[in-house]
Amino acid sequence: MRQIPIVTVIGARPQFVKAAVVSRELTRQEQIREILVHTGQHYDYEMSAVFFKELGLRAPQYNLEVGSKPHGEQTAEILAKLERVLVKEKPAGVIVYGDTNSTLAGALCAGKLHIPVAHVEAGLRSWNRRMPEEINRVVADHIADILFCPTATAVRNLETEGIQRGVFNVGDVMLDAALIFGKDGATKKAFFANGVLQRYGLAAKGYFLITIHRAENTDDPDRLHRLLELLLELHAPAIFPMHPRLGKLLAMSRRLRKMRLQLQNWPDLQVVQPVSYLEMLALEKNARAIITDSGGVQKEAFFLQTPCITLRQETEWIETLADGFNALVGADKKKFLRAISRLDKIRARLAGQKKPEGFALFGGGKAGARIARILARVWR
Ligand code: UD1
Ligand code: UDP
Repeated sequence: MRQIPIVTVIGARPQFVKAAVVSRELTRQEQIREILVHTGQHYDYEMSAVFFKELGLRAPQYNLEVGSKPHGEQTAEILAKLERVLVKEKPAGVIVYGDTNSTLAGALCAGKLHIPVAHVEAGLRSWNRRMPEEINRVVADHIADILFCPTATAVRNLETEGIQRGVFNVGDVMLDAALIFGKDGATKKAFFANGVLQRYGLAAKGYFLITIHRAENTDDPDRLHRLLELLLELHAPAIFPMHPRLGKLLAMSRRLRKMRLQLQNWPDLQVVQPVSYLEMLALEKNARAIITDSGGVQKEAFFLQTPCITLRQETEWIETLADGFNALVGADKKKFLRAISRLDKIRARLAGQKKPEGFALFGGGKAGARIARILARVWR
């Protein structure tokens, strides 16, 4: 059988999780041959290789090795290098994920070569153009021929921008991922059995899980300082797997270096390297609450029914805000402390629920299969 080549472009941590779900399903479509291109945007073992290993992703056929650069340079280098790959491989289509510079460059490069683009996680909007992610996703959506939306909200967002053709509400591949990888496939044991709590001496439901990495929070030293001060208000065990972006920024000024030292010496707080995906799911599932600015982590909190406090002014994932489950506090101390004081109430409400509310809103865990079926039908 003649196989149709399609190219998947990924490069940053959350894209490895999303692509792992779709790649599994594409292998079931015999007429498709997937060519994996890693842009090299993320490259540390904990930010890249560990995901390939843990999620069973094939080694990429191409690694563009662009590394860390300013936005323009990084995007341009991906464009130039990817163009050579696409010209050589002549794929029937290119799949891009989410909203990183790798997404933008992948969509733009394929679009200019008249190769159809499928955008997974299309239609998300924060309506805040100061976020690099917002620019990336708006451009990718307007180039894409096939737009795989995770929610009905995303479909409506596209409609407001006049995009209606090629739009499919397939559900969220990150829900698929949490359901697939959240279980130990061999034993069907619940994922919190993987030992990460013991390793860090954490008691189930007895600690906060923290992540901070978004440019809007880290690039302004005053805001970053204010955010980190909030963490000193917790007075409870907490674990903070630190994104390398933040690690490096904290070394850059005397004030931030001092803050870093204070965090490191704070009795209840463990600042650790980024953890693997399975470890992260276990930490999320068992946390008392999650404090984050990550898009993916807000959703996982919702899927796993762990209350979330989001260190941003707005969110693309508005479904998670229902009933105060995800509290948007920005860098505001009063709002932060109020959100903490409400956690017990939220937990009590969740305990009375049988099935997590989010599953239906996010496609029920079948997004990957739907995407693969549609691509096999459309790209021939
Ligand atoms: C990128 C995405 C962001 C996404 C995040 C996921 C863009 C514009 N941003 O942000 O939307 O939420 O990935 O994690 O694409 N670094 C390392 N090692 C690595 C990777 C990065 O040390 O393996 C450090 C470098 O100092 C680098 C900095 O982190 O300059 C930022 O990396 P970059 O990929 O530019 O942006 P992220 O903040 O990771
Ligand atoms: N993640 C992880 N280890 C960590 C932090 C995050 O495996 O130390 C996972 C997390 O579970 C989610 C994804 O990375 O699946 C989210 O990526 P990130 O927060 O970097 O980016 P965003 O979703 O904000 O774009």
